[in-house]
Amino acid sequence: MVDLLQVAQLPPFLVERLEKEFTLHDFVNPADPDKLVNDVGSSIRGIVAGGMKGPNANLINRLENLEIISSFSVGFDATDVVAAQARGVIVTHTPEVLTGDVADLAMTFILMAPRRIGEAERFLRRGKWLQGRMDLGTTVRGKRLGILGLGRIGRAVARRAEVFGLNIAYYDIKPMGDLAYRSYPTLLDLAAASDMLLVACEGGAATRGLVDADVLNALGPDGFLINTARGPIVDQAALVAAVRDKRIAGAALDVFDGEPDVPAELMAMENVVLTPHIASSTHETRRAMGDLVYDNLRAHFDGKQVLTPVPPQV
Ligand code: 8YV
Repeated sequence: MVDLLQVAQLPPFLVERLEKEFTLHDFVNPADPDKLVNDVGSSIRGIVAGGMKGPNANLINRLENLEIISSFSVGFDATDVVAAQARGVIVTHTPEVLTGDVADLAMTFILMAPRRIGEAERFLRRGKWLQGRMDLGTTVRGKRLGILGLGRIGRAVARRAEVFGLNIAYYDIKPMGDLAYRSYPTLLDLAAASDMLLVACEGGAATRGLVDADVLNALGPDGFLINTARGPIVDQAALVAAVRDKRIAGAALDVFDGEPDVPAELMAMENVVLTPHIASSTHETRRAMGDLVYDNLRAHFDGKQVLTPVPPQV
């Protein structure tokens, strides 16, 4: 049986399925990582990674017989893809199958933040309704949604948002001539022209800190920041300060810089919606992601083309 190294937590059904056909070595929280690599490293031909945990260049380069990294995620910023591809190691991910669920959560956030739904629920549960009515929210219809990154997920959110009467614009490094949405030349221009700014671009070094204090100031005191992509794309300290100082109206966040740690200051803010990285967390989508992780590995070790390779990064 082919030996695989499992570096991220995976759903039990996927572990069970992989264990039927592969020898899976648990490297999620190894007591002695060096010993494990020394003991089994030369037998490892594949790595199973995740969106928040993937192999770095050091691990990739120590596994001399590594052929493929199959990630249980669409985002591949946790894996050093450049190091892998430089060595001819194939990297695969799980695009498409999670687009709908991630877009659904983003759309939920777009409604929740201005309508103050999280706050309203806490208001009721804490018995405050008995003392009076809650303050008013803001209408979503007719507002301007700016999308940072109009890829698969950004487009799926745009389609949903159109139905809710939002006006869509975007900023993307790639030209999207085929779309009717207005494109802005810079993120700052987009933020200044948005009531809600959705972060939907890739994570990684190229986008770290892209949403900074200037972008948040441009979004302005009536603006909301929505992030269902990756925490580090937003300068988190700048975001906390902007909400605290009322330079933006609020935020809705599924991802955080340093998750699962979430700053206490964010937790205490009524006008911030917080969820624990659940955008793709449905039975159906996780099943489809797991199937794709398996199918990519199976295809490769059967001598076929993988189904969903990460494109060359350099
Ligand atoms: C998962 C994700 O929560 O697909 C991604 O990029 O971040 C999420 O779908 C994560 O990858 C699970 O490991």
